[in-house]
Amino acid sequence: MRLFVALPLPDDLRARLAGLARGVPRARWVAPENLHLSLRFIGEVDEAQARDANAALAQISAPAFTLNLAGAGLFGAGEKVRSLWVGVEKCAELSRLHGKIERALQRSGLPPEGRKFKAHVTLARFKSNPGAKLHDYLVHHALFRSAPFAVHEFVLFSSFLSHSGAIYRPEASYALGRLEA
Ligand code: 2AM
Repeated sequence: MRLFVALPLPDDLRARLAGLARGVPRARWVAPENLHLSLRFIGEVDEAQARDANAALAQISAPAFTLNLAGAGLFGAGEKVRSLWVGVEKCAELSRLHGKIERALQRSGLPPEGRKFKAHVTLARFKSNPGAKLHDYLVHHALFRSAPFAVHEFVLFSSFLSHSGAIYRPEASYALGRLEA
């Protein structure tokens, strides 16, 4: 199965982000129910690896925290533009949680993530550059800012491709702040 670790987003925030899904031609907008903040892509694993990853993630102890989304940006550039995202305000607890997840998954036997972590919520993906409208969109949404929201769990999702697009299913969730309770 294909797995990733992410923060789910509150319904009202997903509704607000879904309202941003317009104004760029040829954008493949992420379905509102699929909007999430990705912490670690795991990829294809067998059942034993999935069990070990789950056991490692369940050992993590970290505080709950508050997060703000802010700004918008792109992965890739020019003809190779891949995705449009909303950014995340710098948050030490989020960075620490990401580090704990990365170390836990490596201890469980997964290879290290090669890429540097850049917290984001993907809004749309592209097969080709949509042109000037994308630039206008970034200018228009540069000052986007969410209301602060509480993060009290992270989730291991599986991902399936159906004919109508990706389906993400929560496989396990891990509470934050258990020690503080
Ligand atoms: P994205 O939001 O930046 O697109 C499910 O596909 C999740 O896994 C998404 O959060 C996606 O990140 C991430 N993802 C998919 N394929 C990936 C890959 N090859 N490397 C890293 N992350 C990936």
